Amino acid sequence: MGVTLEKVAKNFGGVRVIEDVSMDIPTGSFAVFVGPSGCGKSTLLRMIAGLEDTSDGVIRIDDRDVTQVEPADRGVAMVFQSYALYPHLTVFENMAFSLRLARTKKAKVTEMVTEAARILQLTDHLGKKPSELSGGQRQRVAIGRAIVRQPKVFLFDEPLSNLDAELRVAMRLELTRLHRQIGATMIYVTHDQVEAMTLADKIFVLKDGVVQQAGAPLTLYDDPDNRFVAGFIGSPAMTFVAAEVLGHDAGLLELRTIGAEAHVFRAAVNGPVPPGTKVEIGVRPEHWQIAEGGMPVRVEVSEELGDVSYLYTRLADETEIVVERLGSRDRLDGQIVGLGADPTDVLVFDMKGQRLR
Ligand SMILES: Nc1ncnc2c1ncn2[C@@H]1O[C@H](COP(=O)(O)OP(=O)(O)OP(=O)(O)O)[C@@H](O)[C@H]1O
Ligand SMILES: [Mg+2]
Repeated sequence: MGVTLEKVAKNFGGVRVIEDVSMDIPTGSFAVFVGPSGCGKSTLLRMIAGLEDTSDGVIRIDDRDVTQVEPADRGVAMVFQSYALYPHLTVFENMAFSLRLARTKKAKVTEMVTEAARILQLTDHLGKKPSELSGGQRQRVAIGRAIVRQPKVFLFDEPLSNLDAELRVAMRLELTRLHRQIGATMIYVTHDQVEAMTLADKIFVLKDGVVQQAGAPLTLYDDPDNRFVAGFIGSPAMTFVAAEVLGHDAGLLELRTIGAEAHVFRAAVNGPVPPGTKVEIGVRPEHWQIAEGGMPVRVEVSEELGDVSYLYTRLADETEIVVERLGSRDRLDGQIVGLGADPTDVLVFDMKGQRLR
């Protein structure tokens, strides 16, 4: 049920941009594709919509193979970044457009548009032209055009990226409410990991057309499979330090940083890793502890946000380490501080970027 992809691939000319993607998006869930520019998010979404054909593999919607089905017959509706409303039509007529094309009865059109407008809080704006609306209201009209079609699956391609920061946050909340209200499956593309974390039941992190990891937002945050996911999810991002393995001690992996400092860390890694293996250790900003006898770093800049401050620090070899501090406002700019971390908060990655657990 929902949307499933089985070994889906896409070539543009001779170039493969989507590589063997398999995924399972349960009915009624909110899935987010996130990844850097060019990783294939929009292409994958357009393949689900049927706007791009699929080079290899199978796409199913509600257990039906739709790989060769026309876009209009897939039961999906797509909302884009540029909302492209008809400027000469009212909000009502913009939302009614596809229903009129489908020769829906007049009373039914009114009922469906009125209901969509109620859900999107556009009731007072139905008589206006798009030029009389704010950016957020226009984007809601675009979503309204999708709602009236009662799709099984909503597909969103960066629908909020034309809005200013404040409006994006407000619309993000509205999308979550909308999803709870209508309960349809939603697939949402963004390069913004905060949007992904806040909207998704299930995040798919993409890089170079390959799914790096799929899971609940906090699973990806707490337990990333690789360095890419670890560095991509979380803001400010996790920072990394080169190290080599010394050996196991009392169930913990002992590591020594290499480069500027030879500082010993312990990490909760059970698997066997031969001494001398070169690795990277990653620690989230909130997991660094400022401690006597810790690894010495120089605080370059501290950003004070009131409740929290972020210290942008460097090791002597210029490796940057970001440290979050709660509840303390004494400025540490220019000072040397020591850093430590609990073994459970020290993640270890091999030189290919795979997580060692
Ligand atoms: N019509 C096309 N012809 C050839 N290559 C294409 C075409 N459309 C996309 N590509 C390539 O496929 C890759 C994935 O593009 P896509 O638009 O899916 O990326 P994206 O993750 O949505 O990026 P962005 O965040 O910038 O929107 C890119 O390398 C892009 O150059
Ligand atoms: Mg895109």
